[in-house]
Amino acid sequence: MDIKALVLRMTLEEKASLCSGGDFWHTKAVERLGIPATMVSDGPHGLRKQDQQADHLGVNESIKAVCFPAACATAASFDRDLLARMGQAIGDSCQHEGVSVVLGPAVNIKRSPLCGRNFEYFSEDPYLTGKLAAAYIRGVQSRNVGVSIKHFAANNQEHRRMSSSSDVDERTLREIYFPGFEIPVKEARPWTVMCSYNRLNGVFASENPWLLTDVLRKEWGFDGYVMSDWGAVSDRVAGVAAGLDLEMPASGGVNDRKLVAAVREGRLEESKLDEACERILSIVYRFTESARPDTPWDMEAQHLLSAQIAEECMVLLKNGDGLLPLDKSDAVAFIGEFAERPRYQGGGSSHINSFKTTGALEAARGLNVTYARGYDAAADSADDALIAEAVAAAKAARVAVVFAGLPDSYESEGYDRRHMRLPECQNRLIDAVAGANANTVVVLHNGSPVQMPWIGRVKAVLEAYLGGQAVGLATVRVLFGDANPCGHLPETFPKKLSDNPSYLFYGGEPRGTEYREGVFVGYRYYDKKEMDVLFPFGHGLSYTRFEFSNLRLSADAIRDTDTLAATVTVKNVGPRPGKVAVQLYVGRGEGGDVIRPLRELKGFEKVALDSGEARDVVFTLDKRAFATWNTDMRDWCVESGDYTVEAGASSRDLPVSAAVRVEGTVHPPRHYDMNSIFMDIMADPRGREALEPLMAKIGAMLAPEEEGSSASEAITSDMSMAMMQYMPLRGIVSFGGGGLPDGFLDELLEKING
Ligand code: BGC
Repeated sequence: MDIKALVLRMTLEEKASLCSGGDFWHTKAVERLGIPATMVSDGPHGLRKQDQQADHLGVNESIKAVCFPAACATAASFDRDLLARMGQAIGDSCQHEGVSVVLGPAVNIKRSPLCGRNFEYFSEDPYLTGKLAAAYIRGVQSRNVGVSIKHFAANNQEHRRMSSSSDVDERTLREIYFPGFEIPVKEARPWTVMCSYNRLNGVFASENPWLLTDVLRKEWGFDGYVMSDWGAVSDRVAGVAAGLDLEMPASGGVNDRKLVAAVREGRLEESKLDEACERILSIVYRFTESARPDTPWDMEAQHLLSAQIAEECMVLLKNGDGLLPLDKSDAVAFIGEFAERPRYQGGGSSHINSFKTTGALEAARGLNVTYARGYDAAADSADDALIAEAVAAAKAARVAVVFAGLPDSYESEGYDRRHMRLPECQNRLIDAVAGANANTVVVLHNGSPVQMPWIGRVKAVLEAYLGGQAVGLATVRVLFGDANPCGHLPETFPKKLSDNPSYLFYGGEPRGTEYREGVFVGYRYYDKKEMDVLFPFGHGLSYTRFEFSNLRLSADAIRDTDTLAATVTVKNVGPRPGKVAVQLYVGRGEGGDVIRPLRELKGFEKVALDSGEARDVVFTLDKRAFATWNTDMRDWCVESGDYTVEAGASSRDLPVSAAVRVEGTVHPPRHYDMNSIFMDIMADPRGREALEPLMAKIGAMLAPEEEGSSASEAITSDMSMAMMQYMPLRGIVSFGGGGLPDGFLDELLEKING
């Protein structure tokens, strides 16, 4: 299809109208020109295709589909291949249903445990988020179905979500909130991007030219279309000018008419509309020209796939006395409503109408398992009769497994959590059961961290996250040892909410929310503050054990234009086959001017090893692994110095490390004036060259009275050194006691500046 020629044939009205949805879920058709409508649907962990009664909050029913684990869970897999396989399956279902674009993945950073949509998001870490999202996108798009990576950008709370401004400095955006988009845009080329509801530094994302054009297209090379989140458009004309191509769902023609008027009155260039139409149409035809409605959609097979995926995502947080795995002949009590009816997905636009669900109780049929309901999932306060029944069941069994987690009302799109606690009835139940049976295990279903006041009283904890409709199958296989747990936490579990770095500012004030913790999000903060946490980022146990050794680098010194290979040997030294997410972190070591985290994830690889097997895992580090965003240069910049590379199985279990010296090749342009201080000028080779010959003289001019005077006794050498270093150039005049020739300082400055 010659898209440019097609757009040339469109009238102004047709162009304006193509730039908004035909209905809730379709792009517009233009019958005169034979342009077809295409369908988009949520997303992301399954297909939410609505036939009638459309809504964007998952209120009305959609067609029956398969609910895969949500991103909170799949992120815990640390497994790119797994995300790609899930993407392929979802892509197949889209082809089968004629859906051109699936609305996801959602890659916003989990800034606080409170965000209502955390369950849809991957991680507190941008690198993990970006790499896993890219893998998912490659999977979906391998089926010639597009994705809409969302919500661009800095949409990290639900509170006041359609009006609040996320006020974030550029370095923090570049290092924390952008890479989840940047990596997939560059590596997986998503067909579309969805802009977020919020404002970014005061400007709505839907009309932000810096965001949608300068960064997204010009810097990162995005070439698909940008659509609005549902109802995110404020000023449609400003939006088109900024690079927002498609307004969703539709404005009933109101905004289309505004676009026509703006072009007629010379307030909007028609070429901007042409561009938007070209981008929309190129994706419309990319889908329709090779649509494959005959693609089979085997839901039963996908149900099993979803169980396999869930299995790879479960994180064994604690396993005292090696209580898990359980023996199949063990007398086990399953306790808690979630054993029967698991919470396996979150509420809102991602809500899938599962064609079936398998809970743990059903999956354990045939085993020696009893059941007590324990609590009412819809209630907060405890029911004594239910607890008494649970205690009796726990006493009669060798092992008690409590299924706990957040009920729907605690965690959903549309609003944030108010605290980090489980419902009171569940905490009380766990306490009571742990008192009745020393072998108590807790299985958790939640989309982000919860406090665990009972952690010291239970032997084992398995974090199952929101594991999709087949989560029960996976849980039982892990509990009874048919599968070896291999998930790792994609986020830190703090001990309490107030430990979280965004705690003081999260949610913000009516006018906006300031991201004052800057780049210190998640483990970047807890590590620097040397804080105890409940479970660290990257943590995850196994039924086997892994040993790390021999971390070697391809060089001990590089320039930032080189790449560095880091190789580490990992060995399964335990009794059974298993998988581990090998993690690689980079940090700056001592010194340096840039304030930065101690370590940051820069590589990960999920490795499967038989008992006794060892393997070398190789990571390649490039400039970005060492760089920070330099606000003066507005570019990535590596500070020359020593860097530490560490590897292991969690951010706080890094048994091997190595050092490398990295020389930065790009330096911020320097300009000095009378207020520049000696320390900074001397750190610059050109400045040092100009100043050095004069230093003895200047030092004497600035030195205190003669030796032995009371003034000089009060001054330590550290102090006089500091006085010198922090002295501005103009200090020569103030403290030099006069006698400087006219023009001396101006000449000196000229020399220093070259
Ligand atoms: C959500 C999006 C979703 C859209 C369509 C919005 O409310 O923020 O994530 O894709 O609705 O359902």
